[in-house]
Amino acid sequence: MSPRVLVTGAAGFIGSHVCEALVGRGDEVVGVDNFDPFYARAMKERNLDGLRRQPRFRFLEADVARDPLPLDGVTVVLHLAAKPGVRPSLENPASYSEANVTGTVRVLEAARRAAIGRVVFGSSSSVYGDATPAPFAEETAAVWPISPYAASKRAGELMAHAFAHLYGMHIACLRFFTVYGPRQRPDLAIHRFTDLIARGSPVRMHGDGSAERDYTYITDCVGGGGGGGGGGGDCRSDQHRRRGAGAAGPPDRVGRANSGAGGADRATSRSAGRRAVDGGRPAPRRAPAGLPA
Ligand SMILES: NC(=O)c1ccc[n+]([C@@H]2O[C@H](COP(=O)([O-])OP(=O)(O)OC[C@H]3O[C@@H](n4cnc5c(N)ncnc54)[C@H](O)[C@@H]3O)[C@@H](O)[C@H]2O)c1
Repeated sequence: MSPRVLVTGAAGFIGSHVCEALVGRGDEVVGVDNFDPFYARAMKERNLDGLRRQPRFRFLEADVARDPLPLDGVTVVLHLAAKPGVRPSLENPASYSEANVTGTVRVLEAARRAAIGRVVFGSSSSVYGDATPAPFAEETAAVWPISPYAASKRAGELMAHAFAHLYGMHIACLRFFTVYGPRQRPDLAIHRFTDLIARGSPVRMHGDGSAERDYTYITDCVGGGGGGGGGGGDCRSDQHRRRGAGAAGPPDRVGRANSGAGGADRATSRSAGRRAVDGGRPAPRRAPAGLPA
């Protein structure tokens, strides 16, 4: 029988790509999203266009912080629903706490009650705060977040650790470094720049132009070519499963992403990129080059 995966935040940028990859490899997917007004609902509806035509995809409009979750038959939960954005979180921190902390605890608790032992939580590189100068060192303790958004993500990781410790759940927290690609969130720089360029408008430069930043391409984030439909270096579908974004395969304490040669995985090559921890513990081992951990 195909695994059944619950994906929260399914109408969002990363969530919709993850759903497509999972459905594409034969999983049954239940997507949940509340169409948070952070950006236009119409964009999120468009993200779901292709998925809604897939018989293996079902969608429920629901708020993870308030509503019951459709967990019947679900074996893995990918929790990507969140209010994103560092700067906007300064405006309304309580709403970030509600969606990202309360929402995450409710997802974890619902998974525990339903005896679902595997959860993937979409965390963020922002949890490092100012603790590590570039390039990021992923082993640096993420202790002092410097925005409500970052604090809400770190709180989610700590909750994940508590659930993993108490109930033996396998929970991978993936610290995404800014993800880009088709359907990228409209608040993010690459989307804004390309939009301005497409309109023939100038792109305003901040600073002196010397700033550098690494990004992660969406298919690398999802898990590479095997599940994501290409563009992810030399990733294989077995790596995809083992990285936690997939539903099958054994629980994995450390799902280090290896997306192959070249620049496909710049975030990991320079800034230590995505980190998967089991309940937030430091990675116990490193993957040999080219192999999934
Ligand atoms: N895109 C990035 O570069 C990036 C970087 C670091 C972390 N992340 C994390 O990855 C996840 C996905 O990010 P994204 O860029 O796809 O953002 P997104 O805003 O496109 O997707 C998040 C989705 O979650 C939904 N959502 C918000 N609150 C909800 C709630 N209470 N109940 C149900 N659904 C809710 C939103 O409507 C949205 O569709 C988020 O958890 C985000 O914090 C993203």
